[in-house]
This record gives sequence, C-alpha cells and structure tokens, in this order.
Amino acid sequence: MQYALITGASKGIGKEMAEELAARKVNLLLIARSEALLQEIAGDLQNRYGIKAACLAIDLAVEGAPARILEWTRENGYTVNILINNAGYGLSGSFERYSASEHSAMMRVNMHVPVELCALFLPQLKQQTKAYILNIASSAAYQAVPGLTVYAASKAFVLSFSRGLGYELRKTGISVTAISPGGTDTDFASRAQVGVKAIKAGEKLNMTASEVAKIAVDAMYAGKTESITGFVNKLGAFFVWLLPKKLVEHTAAGIYEMH
Ligand SMILES: NC(=O)c1ccc[n+]([C@@H]2O[C@H](COP(=O)([O-])OP(=O)(O)OC[C@H]3O[C@@H](n4cnc5c(N)ncnc54)[C@H](OP(=O)(O)O)[C@@H]3O)[C@@H](O)[C@H]2O)c1
Repeated sequence: MQYALITGASKGIGKEMAEELAARKVNLLLIARSEALLQEIAGDLQNRYGIKAACLAIDLAVEGAPARILEWTRENGYTVNILINNAGYGLSGSFERYSASEHSAMMRVNMHVPVELCALFLPQLKQQTKAYILNIASSAAYQAVPGLTVYAASKAFVLSFSRGLGYELRKTGISVTAISPGGTDTDFASRAQVGVKAIKAGEKLNMTASEVAKIAVDAMYAGKTESITGFVNKLGAFFVWLLPKKLVEHTAAGIYEMH
C-alpha cells in the first residue's frame, strides 16, 4: 500500500496538505514532534476519508532522525510514493541573537533533513511507476532577508536543491516540485518571534494554510518544477528580480526591524 509521507504535519501548511491529500484518498504518514496532535489528525482523517494514516513523533533537529523515519516505514511495511518536505521554521532578529547551535538546528531541519530524506527514500520512490517529491521553500528564497538571514538562505538552498534534483531525475518517474509560500497564517511567525511590523504587514497580505496547501498539492500532481503561491507573492518575486538588491534588502530589513 502506498503512502504520502509529510514532515511537519501537526499544524499549519503540513496539516492542511494532509487534509488535501486525504480528500484525494491518499494514505498518509505524518511526522512532527507533537505526538498528541499527530494522533488526533491521523484518527480524524481516517474517519472522515476512509484512508490509512499513521504517525511518528520525532524531533527532526536530532541527527539520525531521517534514518529512523526510513526504519519506521520498513518495520511497518509502508511504501512511500510521495515525499513532502514541509517541516521548517525561522529565527528572526539579528544573526548574533542566536547561538551557533541554534542556527545549526534550524539549518538541520530546513536543509539537511530534506536532503537526507530524499537520499534515503529515492531507491523506494524509483521503484514506483510514478512518484513525487514536494519541497516547501519560501518567498524568502528569492532574496536575502536581513532579520531572517539564515532562514532565507536555507530556503534559497531548498529551492536550488529542488531544481537541481528535479533536473537530474527528469527521465525517471519522479517529479520534484518546490513551492514558495509568502506570508501564511500559521504558527510560523510566533515560533520565529517576528516583530509587530512584520505581523501587521502579514495581517493584510497573508494567505490561509489551506489555500497554500491546495496550490502545493495541485502543483505537485501537475509536475510543476517551481511555484510561488498567490498573485501578490508572484508580483513580489518579480519586483525582487527587477529592483536593485540593496533596495530590496533595505525594504525587507525595515519589515524585520533591522534598520
Ligand atoms: N507561514 C509562513 O508564512 C511561511 C512562509 C513561507 C514558507 N513557510 C514554510 O512552510 C513550512 C511549514 O510552516 P508553517 O507555516 O506551516 O509553520 P508551523 O505552523 O509552525 O508548522 C511547522 C511544522 O513543522 C514541524 N516542525 C518544526 N520543527 C520541527 C522539528 N524540530 N522536528 C519535527 N517537526 C518540526 C512542526 O511540528 P511540531 O512543532 O509538532 O514539531 C509543524 O508541524 C515551513 O517549511 C516554513 O518555513 C511558511
């Protein structure tokens, strides 16, 4: 039996992608740290959509977590044909506000884990007639964001990694899609501890997690290489490309209170 494996499925965009896939009768493997939330979501989706759903509570910042996930799927006979790397978080404020190990833990969750999961699950994905990798990047992938410096760099990595891997796999049955959401109403801002200005900007422009999830799942099944969610975010990326980098960075620095 085939399953979609989703990291960061306990809330936000990941939880909504689980709902979107369950509605399309896709069986689910849900990964995050919050065991009670995962169990509740798995139970609820099984009841409402008649699919199979299992979960594993694990901290992806801990080295070896991706290998443990692969082991868990093997122990239980789960075959993965959709791999969704969604778990991620930001640390806002000056670079110096955080220790080296705090930066490293974030980079591990945002970058190392997606790479390791792709490497570990690739042999299994290749055995399927059709398989999908969906990586969640960010609109922050298209520019440096002072005040979210390492986060933005980690998402640029996710975007570049996805495009490169997608090209390498173009003659296989695996498609690789990178989705770049802009501001989305989830717990992201509170975990990143973004300031009032960024929250105020978000209130006007944010998309809902379910809107983003639908766009992401549609783009994945359509085999798109890269997609930015929503017209405003697409326009934003166009201006980032068009305008001088210093101006774009100065504007972002204002939003994240780094002036
Ligand atoms: N919201 C936005 O404005 C926005 C914009 C662009 C991109 N994104 C990206 O979208 C993705 C989803 O974020 P979201 O907005 O839905 O945020 P969210 O509501 O905070 O959800 C993040 C998910 O990642 C999981 N997670 C975080 N750290 C983890 C760890 N160490 N180990 C295991 N799981 C972990 C969380 O689960 P637990 O806490 O239960 O572990 C949760 O399920 C992220 O990659 C984020 O960078 C978000």
